[in-house]
Amino acid sequence: ATLYVDASSTRPIPKNFFGIFFEEINHAGTGGLWAELVSDRGFEAGGHHEPSMISPWGMIGDETVISVTTEMSSCFKTNPIALRMDIHCSPTTCPPGGVGVYNPGYWGMNVEEGKTYKIVLYIRSSGPLDAVVSFVTSDGTDMLAFSHITIMTIFLYLGGRVTNCRAEAEKVKNWTRLEVRLQATGSNPNCRLQFTTRQTGTIWLDQVSAMPTDTYKGHGFRIDLMEMLLNLKPRFLRFPGGCYVEGNWLSNGFRWKETVGPWEERPGHLGDVWNYWSDDGLGYLEYLQLAEDLGAEPVWVINSGEGHVDQVDTALIGPFVQEMLDSIEFARGSPNSTWGSLRAKLGHPKPFNLKYIAIGNENCGFRTYRGNYLKFYKALKKSYPDIKAISNCDGSKQPLDHPADLYDYHNYTSAEGMLDNTRLFEKASRSNPKAPKAFVSEYAVTDPKEKVGNGTFGGALAEAAFLLSLERNRHALDVVEMVSYAPLFVNENDRKWSPDAIVFNSHQAYGISSYWVQTFFKESSGALLLKSHLKTQTRTRSKTPHVHASAISWLDHQEKKNCITIKVVNYQNTTIELNMSFKGVDLKSIHLTKQTILTTDDCQDENTFENPTKVVPQTSSIKAKVEGKEIKVELKPRSFTAFDL
Ligand code: AHR
Repeated sequence: ATLYVDASSTRPIPKNFFGIFFEEINHAGTGGLWAELVSDRGFEAGGHHEPSMISPWGMIGDETVISVTTEMSSCFKTNPIALRMDIHCSPTTCPPGGVGVYNPGYWGMNVEEGKTYKIVLYIRSSGPLDAVVSFVTSDGTDMLAFSHITIMTIFLYLGGRVTNCRAEAEKVKNWTRLEVRLQATGSNPNCRLQFTTRQTGTIWLDQVSAMPTDTYKGHGFRIDLMEMLLNLKPRFLRFPGGCYVEGNWLSNGFRWKETVGPWEERPGHLGDVWNYWSDDGLGYLEYLQLAEDLGAEPVWVINSGEGHVDQVDTALIGPFVQEMLDSIEFARGSPNSTWGSLRAKLGHPKPFNLKYIAIGNENCGFRTYRGNYLKFYKALKKSYPDIKAISNCDGSKQPLDHPADLYDYHNYTSAEGMLDNTRLFEKASRSNPKAPKAFVSEYAVTDPKEKVGNGTFGGALAEAAFLLSLERNRHALDVVEMVSYAPLFVNENDRKWSPDAIVFNSHQAYGISSYWVQTFFKESSGALLLKSHLKTQTRTRSKTPHVHASAISWLDHQEKKNCITIKVVNYQNTTIELNMSFKGVDLKSIHLTKQTILTTDDCQDENTFENPTKVVPQTSSIKAKVEGKEIKVELKPRSFTAFDL
């Protein structure tokens, strides 16, 4: 095969070409990137009835010495459930370890020796309080950190940070906020947080939080997972879904106003599509902060008044439209504006760089969509003409029947389908240069018939070919502006969707092959595409090319030099000799810097916790012959290679 590269003919790749899509699915945020260790910290997950269930919390001691119930007795109006414990034993009759409750976290809390954890809890007691807060291994045997809480006087209402107490309800008085720091004397990835006492009486607990003190920039994000995201150099962050935005029932969709402000006052909600409760510690402000910390532009997917089951008629959509406008003012309004001042009060006076709004997710098929969309679109453009509006309708096959800047395209298919899709956007109309561009915001090889498992190398190789087609194809670039893989994260204990780029548990994480494929594109956004043409004999029965290549030139800021990177997918199971033939560049000025190869023996290979690096890129010097204007290299069978020149 020969790749002809003309370095004198270039065109820019969009500056936000490559990014990530974060959805609250598979416990990606709750029990994942968001470092909060306590699950259901306000006891709201069981619902607002009395008594509610306390799960996932568990009891220490049994009914003879303790009874536990939930009561509508919290001092927080927005999350009224609290836990009530009646302790029937005394210092002489209670078990030596005391009685009380524990929280198992999200399949175990990762407690690490020497590290400090900030515990906050709201408490009310019928008498003097003598209790212990501790991290204990999940079997209850080993205590890795503890602190005594002893208060000798009966609580009076201490005020402080306890706000919203309903003065009229006698029983909710006398709450106070306690904060302790626990420093771990040992490590265990499967711990629980315990609250125990040997004091007779009644104790109410609410809003219990345990946060590691070392989170990314102190912003609450788990550091190891953040580092994996930073390694992708994403230029945009689409959030927070996905179906999560919509909800099966609209009442369970993502409503940003309920996710901002003091964490204790956030009501939390059931994400009923992926079926788990979120305390919404990772709320709208945190998502914007996440984008900023990643150096990525936020792409905010708003609820367009459409859940999977129920939708709001266009005549009644006004409040949803206002919610969108308010969310934009919150993100980028001046600190003197109504919502901008809230952002400033919450610690971020500087506006966020919000330039993209996606109106709904996969809602184009709904009867209400076009009507609703137009209301959102018009209001958006009237107040914020610079914000790009993203439609849910497919503009690749025929022009959209409504105005938009981008249209959302989701591409889940088999490996062969993904290879076929390398031609997807060739057919898209180019007659109107102002027509909306495609935002391929979700793509992945998912077809279970092909045994994609939890993310095989074979699937990822087809995705690499697809990404190259978006990056390379001069025509495709006219119509494709942005691309991101989906889903991004999975907590191995709650796999709702496969594959997912990053797999984690309480203390470990690894990337599947699809994650590593994405790392090959981290310099693509804003780079220059060099005109190239691949000549190869190889064609399959389906006429889908099995060799794909692209050439880009980009500025290496660290080394302060221009680089050329040639990326090639060899989807065949034979070695290929590739001649790289250059025009418009002096070969003498080219250094064979390094080659990075992602390959393995078997297309079914995948990474696991047991072998997280089975399929990872290997970097070495370039083994090449330079002859005249050609560089000759070998492409391994079934491989993805990047040559840095
Ligand atoms: O990525 C998983 C799901 O796939 C998303 O929630 C949805 O947008 C799509 O159907």
